[in-house]
Amino acid sequence: MNKRIDMSWDEFDEMRDPRPAENDFDRVVERAISRRGFLGGVLAFGSASALFGTTTLTPTAAKAQAQGFSFAPIPTFTDATIHVPEGFEWKPLVRWGDALWSEAEGAFNAETGVALDMSDKVFGENTDGMELFEVEGREIIAVNSEYVNPGINLPAASEGIPANADEVMLLKNMQGVTVMEVAMGTNGYEVVVDSPYNRRITHETQMTMDGPAAGHDLMKTNADAEGMSPKGTMNNCGSGKTLWGTYLTCEENFNGYFGATEAREPTEGEARYGIGGESNYSYEKFDVRYDISKEPNEPHRHGWITEIDPANPDSVPVKHTALGRFKHENAEMTLAADGRVVVYMGDDERGEFIYRYVSNGTYTEGGPTEGLLSDGQLYVAVFNDDQTGEWRALTPEATGMTLEETLVFSRMAGSAVGATTMDRPEWIAVNPMKAEAYCALTNNSKRGGDAMPVNAANPRETNDYGQIVRWMPEGDDHGADAFTWDLYVMAGNPTVYDNVYGGSENITDGNMFNSPDGMAFDQNGMLWIQTDGDDSNEGDFAGQGNNQMLVGNPETGEIARFLSAPKGAEVTGLCWSLDGKTAFVGIQHPGGSWPEGNGLPRSSVIAVWRTDGNVVVG
Ligand code: FEO
Ligand code: CA
Ligand code: CA
Repeated sequence: MNKRIDMSWDEFDEMRDPRPAENDFDRVVERAISRRGFLGGVLAFGSASALFGTTTLTPTAAKAQAQGFSFAPIPTFTDATIHVPEGFEWKPLVRWGDALWSEAEGAFNAETGVALDMSDKVFGENTDGMELFEVEGREIIAVNSEYVNPGINLPAASEGIPANADEVMLLKNMQGVTVMEVAMGTNGYEVVVDSPYNRRITHETQMTMDGPAAGHDLMKTNADAEGMSPKGTMNNCGSGKTLWGTYLTCEENFNGYFGATEAREPTEGEARYGIGGESNYSYEKFDVRYDISKEPNEPHRHGWITEIDPANPDSVPVKHTALGRFKHENAEMTLAADGRVVVYMGDDERGEFIYRYVSNGTYTEGGPTEGLLSDGQLYVAVFNDDQTGEWRALTPEATGMTLEETLVFSRMAGSAVGATTMDRPEWIAVNPMKAEAYCALTNNSKRGGDAMPVNAANPRETNDYGQIVRWMPEGDDHGADAFTWDLYVMAGNPTVYDNVYGGSENITDGNMFNSPDGMAFDQNGMLWIQTDGDDSNEGDFAGQGNNQMLVGNPETGEIARFLSAPKGAEVTGLCWSLDGKTAFVGIQHPGGSWPEGNGLPRSSVIAVWRTDGNVVVG
């Protein structure tokens, strides 16, 4: 058995170890000093509460939290199905292999999966970020298929390693993006098969680029001498929605698809992005595009925020170089006080950064949007230990790099200006009720020690539980360069630990979880939190059950469990129907034979609704 296919993406990247180098002496000294000061306080758990919002609950009050939600919280589960609160129901909306066009009906085989000839006409595998759009009165969902499980997509004899170009193409078609119309049927929401809006976007879809790095020498390949016409999007993780009704898909672990068929020393840029050696899926052996020995610039054409117009199936997706290249989790758009467009983005890797893009032009409803995602400034976040923070601009002056380099190698630009290393930034969500933003920092087994010392926003060594940091921009203006911050929650296990690993005061034995990842606010301003963590239910994770979805009250700090996933799955991706009465939730990489109960497991988007017909809110 090839060991690589048994690895999670996280483990694969750990092998590559693209950790940022500390290259700013002053910052290292500054951090060492503040670390002494901070640890003095945090060692006594009570003192650490200074980090949390003043509204954070005491443990006793948190236990009475059921009153503060629209549902009765559920316990943990360790079984192979979905659980939702009393008064709610769920069903699969669409599963891996379900037909988007009638010619592909029946294409899925419960024992062998999907055959190549129908693989770009069905719903892809491993559903992730998604958004719902209203287009001419219809409801259109755009949804990512993050990665593939070669072990269940390929013939059993292959042991999960593609043996030829056809098998590579099959895997590639299971990834990318699906655009699909949904409509209320006789039994809840269903996919509208053969809708003119249905579309699959894969590794093969023709794209274009804009922004300062488009057409740069770093973008040119043998197939694209102009460096303007990349093919495909891959490892699409979280999502975003523009104010003008388009979809943002976020290219995350693109590095693992590129390999070298000839021995070569990785460049500095390759090393920092974890590119080199043999790829995770062996695509480079059958498709030259993935072979960095022959196409060293191809990886530069991935790792971007890519915009898709769900209203026009013939539109060419656009990769926006102005928003930087890194392992994009999601893209949360909001507005500065003066109308400039602000996009918050996380780079999901141990010790990487949180970014903000601010457009130069301003947005007006119904007005022109040209240039809003191609002409602007990219920043990285600095979280000071005194709970202040600032956005530092990645300019040529500040970084010593060219403008194009600051975008293609944003990680190196971020290091050059002293960005704060974070515990794997996942989704960012902006509170619709007030000027604040939340970022899930999922976990970081390597936090601590000299290579990645703790800091106040990432305060625990060997952080297996994760935390959610939130920042409040100065003057309630997301365009301001200064902010203050606190930790909304530190996940933990209070049944195992009575120190910082027990979690913050709003964590109890009744709502505990680990590894927050997906997040979204509902129309009432409640924060939905999805997890992608350790579901062993043992040791440090005893009693935490399967991965789950919870709801947090931003004002009180209360958190309550809403959904438990099937064993093995993570919960990722969340959007609502236009009437708010159905929530669509992504269930990725389930184990066993979920949801059928026999045959291959099928990642799926599920619909969740209230039996009383009211809106689904926290
Ligand atoms: Fe694709 Fe960081 O999760
Ligand atoms: Ca994620
Ligand atoms: Ca994750």
